Amino acid sequence: MSEIYRFGISLEKPLIDAFDKHIEKKNYKNRSEAIRDLIRNEMVQKNWVDGGRAAGAIVMTYDHHKRELLAKITDIQHDYQEMIISTQHVHLDHHNCLEIIAVRGEAADIQSLADKLQAQIGVKHLNLSVSATLTKH
Ligand code: NI
Repeated sequence: MSEIYRFGISLEKPLIDAFDKHIEKKNYKNRSEAIRDLIRNEMVQKNWVDGGRAAGAIVMTYDHHKRELLAKITDIQHDYQEMIISTQHVHLDHHNCLEIIAVRGEAADIQSLADKLQAQIGVKHLNLSVSATLTKH
């Protein structure tokens, strides 16, 4: 395990009160745990911006009735099959499909896949969530 560093943080009272209330709702045991997660999230975002490899998920909803859209979404996914780990398709209701695509690869490629899917007419919402940045091996 790596060495643990301790440091103090100065904050205005209303801000730390609000933060304490917030982390209690999120079931953190203490401030250190919560701040550690905040820093980790920030570093994942930073690495994402800097490029490199990453893993995450694309979550999208789209209109089931647009027949050509289903084919287009499949075509795009075939173009990126090397970085798609799995896809899950859920028939949400009569009109809507939910698709969850787990991805791992170059950050730029993941972004490009998400952008191409989002640009399709009939895609109602798309969210790319990066969970980890990976080191090259
Ligand atoms: Ni469906």
